[in-house]
Amino acid sequence: MDVILRLVLLWFLTCAGLPLSAPDPDDESCLTHLSESLQDPNRNLQNWTKSTFKNPCSGFTSYLQGAICNNGRIYKLSLTNLSLKGSISPFLSNCTNLQALDLSSNALTGPIPPDLQSLVNLAVLNLSANRLSGQIPPQLSFCAYLNVIDLHNNLLSGQIPQQLGLLVRLSAFDVSNNHLSGPIPWSLGNRSGNLPRFNASSYLGNKDLYGYPLPPMKSKGLSVVAIVGIGLGSGLLSLMVSFTAVCVWLRVSERKLANDEGKISQLMPDY
Ligand SMILES: *[C@@H]1O[C@H](CO)[C@@H](O)[C@H](O)[C@H]1NC(C)=O
Ligand SMILES: *[C@@H]1O[C@H](CO)[C@@H](O)[C@H](O)[C@H]1NC(C)=O
Ligand SMILES: *[C@@H]1O[C@H](CO)[C@@H](O)[C@H](O)[C@H]1NC(C)=O
Ligand SMILES: *[C@@H]1O[C@H](CO)[C@@H](O)[C@H](O)[C@H]1NC(C)=O
Ligand SMILES: *[C@@H]1O[C@H](CO)[C@@H](O)[C@H](O)[C@H]1NC(C)=O
Ligand SMILES: *[C@@H]1O[C@H](CO)[C@@H](O)[C@H](O)[C@H]1NC(C)=O
Repeated sequence: MDVILRLVLLWFLTCAGLPLSAPDPDDESCLTHLSESLQDPNRNLQNWTKSTFKNPCSGFTSYLQGAICNNGRIYKLSLTNLSLKGSISPFLSNCTNLQALDLSSNALTGPIPPDLQSLVNLAVLNLSANRLSGQIPPQLSFCAYLNVIDLHNNLLSGQIPQQLGLLVRLSAFDVSNNHLSGPIPWSLGNRSGNLPRFNASSYLGNKDLYGYPLPPMKSKGLSVVAIVGIGLGSGLLSLMVSFTAVCVWLRVSERKLANDEGKISQLMPDY
């Protein structure tokens, strides 16, 4: 009886003590690498130090600026409008409990790491108003809980991945003002059923993006009007050039004729 009581007591103490005291090695790796890949020229990030990365959370309390904790794990990261430079570390994917990532309105460069696919709880991804380049990783479609993808005002290029249409929970999607090209995937442009549709404002400001809800593809070659215009224009130009040439030739030969006549008249004896 005494042994059982002691075992129960031991089990209780172990279980009750664990979640609060054990720092998470994955979160530590995530934060350490992220802080290495970011540059903070204005020294805005408080407590972003190695010692805090070892123990950023205590239950629901966070010791790290921009972080919200849940059960001792990083739950939300929000570092917006802090003049941050540098890039987004692929090791961010080690913050496996991350539910919201908002790094908007900074000066971040480089690609969106495809590794973010391991963030299976991610619901909000806001990387808008940075200088991120490269393609939108199709792997984001593995983050099945994504509600918000806001990537507007960046330098992203390539096509919008078809796979993003698989994200049935997506309620906000904005890729406006990038360098995207190609067709808007039908699954994103014309979502059917109860899925919210995204209007043209989600896609505007990309020079080579086309298809519903934007206008259809601009014809690749020159339009008929342009071809006719160029034809008429060059025709008129060559007409003018040849006309001028004829005029000059006439003038020259006229002068030559006049000269010759003069010479002849000089040779002729006067009567
Ligand atoms: C920084 O850490 C200290 C001690 O851990 C804490 O008291 C303080 O609130 C933290 N600052 C921020 C901005 O989280
Ligand atoms: C961003 O930060 C700057 C100064 O740090 C501030 O003046 C500006 O209002 C902020 N913008 C937003 C949208 O919070
Ligand atoms: C941390 O992230 C990196 C980059 O995505 C990955 O290679 C590594 O396996 C991750 N570590 C763990 C423990 O998940
Ligand atoms: C993303 O962040 C920007 C700037 O911080 C904000 O204006 C915008 O509303 C956010 N996007 C969404 C979908 O919440
Ligand atoms: C998309 O849906 C709209 C409204 O239902 C419809 O008018 C349009 O023809 C559809 N476009 C395509 C490509 O199916
Ligand atoms: C387009 O959708 C956004 C929300 O996603 C909304 O704020 C805006 O009013 C819509 N624009 C039009 C023209 O319907």
